[in-house]
Amino acid sequence: MKTIAVLTSGGDAPGMNAAIRAVVRTGLEKGFKVMGVQRGYSGLINGEIFEMGRYSVADIIQRGGTILRTARSEEFKTEAGRIKAVNILKAFGIDGLVVIGGDGSFKGARELSKMGINTIGLPGTIDNDLAYTDYTIGFDTALNTVLDAINKLRDTSSSHERVSIVEVMGRNCGDIALFAGIAGGAESVIIPEKEFDVNLLCRKVLEGKNRGKLHNLIILSEGVGGAQALKKKIQEVTGIETRATVLGHIQRGGSPTAADRILASRLGARAVELLEQGKSSRVVGVRGNEVVDFEIEEALAMESKFNEELYNIANILSY
Ligand code: F6P
Repeated sequence: MKTIAVLTSGGDAPGMNAAIRAVVRTGLEKGFKVMGVQRGYSGLINGEIFEMGRYSVADIIQRGGTILRTARSEEFKTEAGRIKAVNILKAFGIDGLVVIGGDGSFKGARELSKMGINTIGLPGTIDNDLAYTDYTIGFDTALNTVLDAINKLRDTSSSHERVSIVEVMGRNCGDIALFAGIAGGAESVIIPEKEFDVNLLCRKVLEGKNRGKLHNLIILSEGVGGAQALKKKIQEVTGIETRATVLGHIQRGGSPTAADRILASRLGARAVELLEQGKSSRVVGVRGNEVVDFEIEEALAMESKFNEELYNIANILSY
């Protein structure tokens, strides 16, 4: 194999740039020609491909977003789109591709590998929703962004003695909410993995107030949603002024944390090593601080194990 390429796909995540840098520099060190594909699979179909040198990735390790841009491509989901993509890859002499993204992007990588392109996936998503890896690139930064917001909301909530609902991202995975809830000392965490009872929540709010709590922070995962309706209900039942803040895309931006930069660098380097070994259709991740890799199909079929221990800690410490 002589030429490899890298692309970012799906929602951007802080640390994607650090991963691109690691792929490019490890690739060059191993004697590959390295190409960058712009705008994910959509750019691949359109041939938006350029050569990347050592200095094309200088000064990006600290930057959020992705210098390669990203997209969600409907055309690539069709067979005709994928045939176009493979033809483009062949035209550019690319035989190995590193895809940085989430589960949808990995499915695309798996399809390309079936069509003869060696593909390796890196987990780039703030959601931390990939069961095969303990952490995804971008999760730690998003978590710290949420934590910063919670700290600020706590100040204003305490001053006004209000309830504050903070809705956070994560699709159907409650990790951002759960981790931020523990780190931010939230009173309640509402996540898709656990049933929640609004009456119990209201009772908890009132009991907190009776014990002298000045504020009440509720972290609500977008997978449950309904921040405004919940705010209305809490106000009606408890009589306590309540505000809802939906953090939205602010969680996806910002300079990556040290943890995300290091994770991205380690996983990016491993992706190139796997391509060098002629491996394909694999995804790289981390388990217990060890870099690991699995067959894509196997990784996507793994069931997420919900972290009951963390959930219990969140509940015990919130009283
Ligand atoms: O997967 C990352 C993510 O930010 C999710 O947490 C969120 O549900 C979704 O992407 C938002 O997507 P978009 O940027 O297309 O609105």
